Amino acid sequence: MPHNSFLREQCYIAGEWVGPTVSKDASTLIGVTNPATGDMLGKVPNFGRRETSQAIDMAQIAFEDWRRRTPDERAGFCMAMHDALMDNQATLGELLTLEMGKPFAEAKGEIAFGAGFFKWFAEEARRVYGDVVPSPWPDKKIIITKEPIGVVGAITPWNFPSAMIARKVAAAFAAGCSVVCKPASETPFSAFAFGVLADEIALPKGVLSVITGDPEPIADEMCENPKLRKVTFTGSTRVGKELASKASRHMKRISMELGGNAPLIIFDDADLDKAVDGAIACKFRNSGQTCVCANRIYVQSGIYDAFAKQLAEKVSTMMVGNGLGDGVEQGPLISDAAIQKVESHIADATERGAKVITGGARHNLGLTFFQPTILTDATSEMKIASEETFGPVAPLFKFETEEEVIKAANATEYGLASYCYTNDLGRAWRMTDSLDYGMVAINEGILSTPIAPFGGVKDSGQGREGSKYGLDDYINVKYALFGGLAK
Ligand code: SIN
Repeated sequence: MPHNSFLREQCYIAGEWVGPTVSKDASTLIGVTNPATGDMLGKVPNFGRRETSQAIDMAQIAFEDWRRRTPDERAGFCMAMHDALMDNQATLGELLTLEMGKPFAEAKGEIAFGAGFFKWFAEEARRVYGDVVPSPWPDKKIIITKEPIGVVGAITPWNFPSAMIARKVAAAFAAGCSVVCKPASETPFSAFAFGVLADEIALPKGVLSVITGDPEPIADEMCENPKLRKVTFTGSTRVGKELASKASRHMKRISMELGGNAPLIIFDDADLDKAVDGAIACKFRNSGQTCVCANRIYVQSGIYDAFAKQLAEKVSTMMVGNGLGDGVEQGPLISDAAIQKVESHIADATERGAKVITGGARHNLGLTFFQPTILTDATSEMKIASEETFGPVAPLFKFETEEEVIKAANATEYGLASYCYTNDLGRAWRMTDSLDYGMVAINEGILSTPIAPFGGVKDSGQGREGSKYGLDDYINVKYALFGGLAK
């Protein structure tokens, strides 16, 4: 096992490190492997409903105190978590690379990105203002206050094992909620690291618990336990819909950050160099394993050949390897199932007329390494046009007119992120207005920041994370009527 001071193999429940030996329900352990080497990194508990219920009980007790802390106090804990993350950025980044494979530089970037949510919400914690509504009665006042929702269940993904926890937990803490987090089984260690840091900053016990195990029993407990008031999830649309329907049966608030099928649109008038660099950043970040990755790249006919050539030249020189190696730009994919999906999309596309101009196959490094791939002559009939590939494959679709590309870009049930490169200001505004997505980036390939609202429309989910809007998802609005005020 590699040495990393953050690598803990026990769950963090209300300030205690709990291993399988003290729980009767934990009959098995979950093995965690390094996708870059196939080595076993460690084993974590396979906990279930009973431990989830215990964690929720403790979170409920903690909530009663936590909600009454001043915003300033909660802000202090958020800021302390930010500092603790940044003080340990390299060690946490290494752990993240070990368990999910992304290049070390990207992993360190993710730690800083996550820390940014704690900083942002430390500031926002002080700004949870209420309202005084002008009263229709001379002897009554209408006051609106805001209260934390209560205990939150956070179910988080493997592709951003640290930042997606930070994005949810920081907002919850600022609002005054306590959290029980269930990270993906592939990447529990970055999640347990929050337990180590919680101890370090002396976070009140029970305000955060991190529990690993099969998703279904844990999610069922979260959805059905009356003490838990909200379920927040980042992951696939299929799972998100199941969770949303279970949670809604028990009237839980939900936030769902789900799949995407992002269009990246390059017009003839775009700056070619910037568009190529933006496409690489957008498509190949995290080996294409992000919900906001460009899944369909639409290129106008006048610039299509030049764009394809330049993109293929750059992509063919990308260094693939173990994310801890010097200069590595693309790590392995998370699993063989991920590789198989990539292969099936390429096979389907080529059978229907697409051409592979670079990549197209497993990398000779073996395991789950895949060559960064560019396909030309992509069309809307191909699977790759309608399904999220979640891998390093960039299909290029040719288009002629603005109207045509808007129609094609919006022809999906998803609506998370969209991107457009153009130097025409009017067109930039028209595209922003016309793209049916929660987020639009003009002349940029990466848009995530703690300061702006992240989230989608249609099957990409509901709710917003980060920004001033992100707090609303953790808050209940209370109306107070003060009557009898006449003399
Ligand atoms: C995600 O893929 O789930 C999040 C990516 C991001 O925030 O940029």
